[in-house]
Amino acid sequence: MKIIAIESSCDETAVAIVENGRKVLSNAILSQADMHALYGGVVPEIASRKHIECIAALTEKAFLDAGVEKEEIDAVAVTFAPGLIGALLVGVGFAKALAFALGKPLIPVHHIRGHIAANYIAFPELEPPFLCLVASGGHTLLVDVKDYTKFEILGSTRDDAAGEAFDKCARVLGIGYPGGAKIDALAKEGDKDKYKLPRANIEGFELDMSFSGLKTAVINLVHRAEQKGEEIDKAGLAASFTEAVCDAIVPRTMAAAKLSGRKKIAIAGGVAANSFLRERLQNEAKSSGIELFFPPLSLCGDNGAMIAAQGYFEFLQGNEAKSDLNACATLPIDFES
Ligand code: KG4
Ligand code: ZN
Repeated sequence: MKIIAIESSCDETAVAIVENGRKVLSNAILSQADMHALYGGVVPEIASRKHIECIAALTEKAFLDAGVEKEEIDAVAVTFAPGLIGALLVGVGFAKALAFALGKPLIPVHHIRGHIAANYIAFPELEPPFLCLVASGGHTLLVDVKDYTKFEILGSTRDDAAGEAFDKCARVLGIGYPGGAKIDALAKEGDKDKYKLPRANIEGFELDMSFSGLKTAVINLVHRAEQKGEEIDKAGLAASFTEAVCDAIVPRTMAAAKLSGRKKIAIAGGVAANSFLRERLQNEAKSSGIELFFPPLSLCGDNGAMIAAQGYFEFLQGNEAKSDLNACATLPIDFES
């Protein structure tokens, strides 16, 4: 079964064709990151307009790259939630028209479910149940993936996502947007013990996290240094910050696996690309006899292939949308279909 998927929830326009949820035939992506970098973050109106400009051409590219004719498509999947509402609406509107024109079913896909499904592409043998750490620009979640379309949230951030903290840290250090990959590279040259940064614990909710205090601590540290005319050790701060994020995420991920009795952990989302996080999780998993799965960097960030992959499993479950499908800015991963 060949599914074409449309993803436009943030600042990447992406269209992909995937066979049976696991085999990528094409994965066309156009990132707007350079444009938003001028403003230090995503400007929703610009994102929507850029999606409109390129979505049709990108769809043609997805067909060409895959060597697939339009008649060969069995269904159209689309990210309908969560994300920037204007940006999502572009994809949803386009996907509806495409499904109607092709006379094929329309499958609504939750963006975070898509991030998890990136693992099905990277690891054809991976099947639920497993524990998944989802760490993206907008979400930090510990999810028990009970089945392809059945999820239970075991822990989550109470405020900012880890990715948001990475981006803000990069911004205050003046190293650009998006900041995660840049902080990752800079941290490799720094001393993780250079700066003392806070670690938050939420009493009674051991699997929940909080990154806003850490983010504020970094901002205050940099501003204070600027006021005093002191030099910041940027690499040291990047390393200390990354260590604090890993200290929040790694032990909770292992604890969530233990609690749910899962012997497999997958990671997903843009922050899953972080090399320190990967290394620490790998070490912990090894010593606990847990199998760790992390998708290649190309599948960690937003892409259409992951939406097509999840779309396949949603379709098998009978989750189809009608032409009145609406976009939704916020929606939990365990929503009722
Ligand atoms: O999943 P994603 O591509 O988009 C959302 O759905 O949000 O995640 C983007 C986030 C950004 O905050 C970006 O800074 C972060 O992932 N990121 C990283 C790395 N690469 C991307 N964070 C830490 N280390 C990285 N290597
Ligand atoms: Zn994403």
